[in-house]
Amino acid sequence: MSDKKSIDNFLRNFSCIIITGCSSGIGRALLTRIENSDTPALVFNLSRNEPETFSKHLKFTHLTCDLSQPTEIQEVVSRLQNLIPRTGRILLVNNSGFGAYGEFPAPDLNHTLKMIEVNVSAPVQLTGLLWDRLKSQGGQVANIASLAGYQPTPLISTYAATKAFLLHWSIALDAESKKYGVRCVAICPGPVSTNFSRAAGLNGSTGLGGQSAEDCAEEALQAMAQNRPHWITGWKNRWLGFFSARLPKAWAAAIGLRMIQKLKLDRFRH
Ligand SMILES: NC(=O)c1ccc[n+]([C@@H]2O[C@H](COP(=O)([O-])OP(=O)(O)OC[C@H]3O[C@@H](n4cnc5c(N)ncnc54)[C@H](OP(=O)(O)O)[C@@H]3O)[C@@H](O)[C@H]2O)c1
Repeated sequence: MSDKKSIDNFLRNFSCIIITGCSSGIGRALLTRIENSDTPALVFNLSRNEPETFSKHLKFTHLTCDLSQPTEIQEVVSRLQNLIPRTGRILLVNNSGFGAYGEFPAPDLNHTLKMIEVNVSAPVQLTGLLWDRLKSQGGQVANIASLAGYQPTPLISTYAATKAFLLHWSIALDAESKKYGVRCVAICPGPVSTNFSRAAGLNGSTGLGGQSAEDCAEEALQAMAQNRPHWITGWKNRWLGFFSARLPKAWAAAIGLRMIQKLKLDRFRH
């Protein structure tokens, strides 16, 4: 079966798709690909900003939610509980997240703590509040982690640690939840051209390039369709992840520091 067909079939398998962070980047590209699949699912986006408009045939609802605020997550899930169809499989994609570049706690401690809320606490809270529905209706939880989650990474130390959490949590949850018909998939992109660098405190022209959001989303959906417990997008990134995950952790951190220093990213700070 072609990749396009297997993704289309996978997406048509759900009665409800909930994604966080479709207003930009990888989330926006996932939403576009979902729209092109002709899925009958009700599709919900959770983010602070509403995604730009697109064609009307997708059954789409935007729910404004700041995922750094546990009370907002509680409220939005209460609304979702009434909106989600009572039957059919559910796909939850925990995609929202951001990073910060620089020596700890750059840019400041509040920003760092907010990052932990959005990248770690929010996926756990959202998944936890929807867990009974996922178990009774079946489905999948896809967590957008990162290549940075495979090793301790200086100068993005907290960000990389949030993604290590998401990666390990997701793989362990998959082992537990298979028996309920719920699969968990950790998607680990390397650099992707989105607003991510800007949000991490670097201006847009770092020259790091990377995958396009569309290619990353396509590969992510293939991995989800194949129920891979974890998947690094981009073959060069896969090699890097394979080797760095096998190094002693202190070596990986020392080599990572050297490699990031070589990029001289301080030139691009804003
Ligand atoms: N781009 C990369 O190089 C790269 C590499 C590896 C992993 N990732 C991961 O991929 C995911 C998507 O990032 P991206 O590259 O697409 O970056 P992006 O273009 O900056 O998009 C980030 C998304 O997260 C949402 N978000 C941020 N803070 C939020 C909050 N407080 N509440 C709700 N939503 C929030 C944003 O929505 P609002 O601003 O509208 O709230 C936006 O839709 C992230 O988890 C990121 O860590 C990215």
